[in-house]
Amino acid sequence: MIEKAVFISRIAGNIIREGFGKNLQIEFKTNKANIVTDIDKKSENIIKNFIRKEFPTHGILAEESGHEKGSSEFIWVIDPLDGTTNFAHGLPIFSVSIGVIKGKEIICGVVYDVMRDEVYSAEKGSGSHLNSKRIKVSSNSQIEESLLVTGFPYNISENPDNAIEKFSTIIKKARGVRRLGSAAIDFCYVASGVFEGFWEVDLNPWDACAGKLLVEEAGGKVTNFAGENIDIYSRQFLAGNGKINSILENILGK
Ligand code: IPD
Ligand code: CA
Ligand code: CA
Repeated sequence: MIEKAVFISRIAGNIIREGFGKNLQIEFKTNKANIVTDIDKKSENIIKNFIRKEFPTHGILAEESGHEKGSSEFIWVIDPLDGTTNFAHGLPIFSVSIGVIKGKEIICGVVYDVMRDEVYSAEKGSGSHLNSKRIKVSSNSQIEESLLVTGFPYNISENPDNAIEKFSTIIKKARGVRRLGSAAIDFCYVASGVFEGFWEVDLNPWDACAGKLLVEEAGGKVTNFAGENIDIYSRQFLAGNGKINSILENILGK
């Protein structure tokens, strides 16, 4: 499965790269901030068609077309283009994210960072890799020396879970807080030790499925803001190197 996921994420990534900087057809989803392009849909279609052909009994949960039930317990969870706003504005930070769950357990995850041509992959029990090289979370336990990352959901104007206050508290304590605009890449950079931690409210399963496994297999910890175990349908995600998590839980869990 992991090989197939890597293969098709690269194919979808090629389509996205070809569309980058070109004329796009843009539609609004829930509001003007939340957009989808023709390339998101193209990417999703090619991934779904491939999975249907390779794994006809598996279910599919994909951002732009919803849930397609399968007869087996495997579900492919797909974000065909994570970072659509960046993509549409010409900022080269976006990815393809593909995870597979069996029951509630994530068993494989791939994130393809399209413009850097970097494949992050993880299989349950086999560690996390960046272009086949093993990656590990950082070992830093000091928030003052941490580089963190967060994201804001499309309904940020409603300030879900007091997201703005939480951001404001953390940015005053950390060395830096970034907002890259691709949650899947945020998880990858925690897995590879670039960031000590990542948090976001109101994520969808396709934003987090592959990334959660990547962080865990790299030695990190992914929970909700209270530090509790979660599945991909949790809306709150706190991913950290395991050393910084409790400090962030103390702030975010309030
Ligand atoms: C979004 C990105 C962004 C995050 C948003 C997501 P999309 O996904 O991951 O970083 O802050 O919450 O919805 O819409 O570009 O696939
Ligand atoms: Ca997404
Ligand atoms: Ca998307």
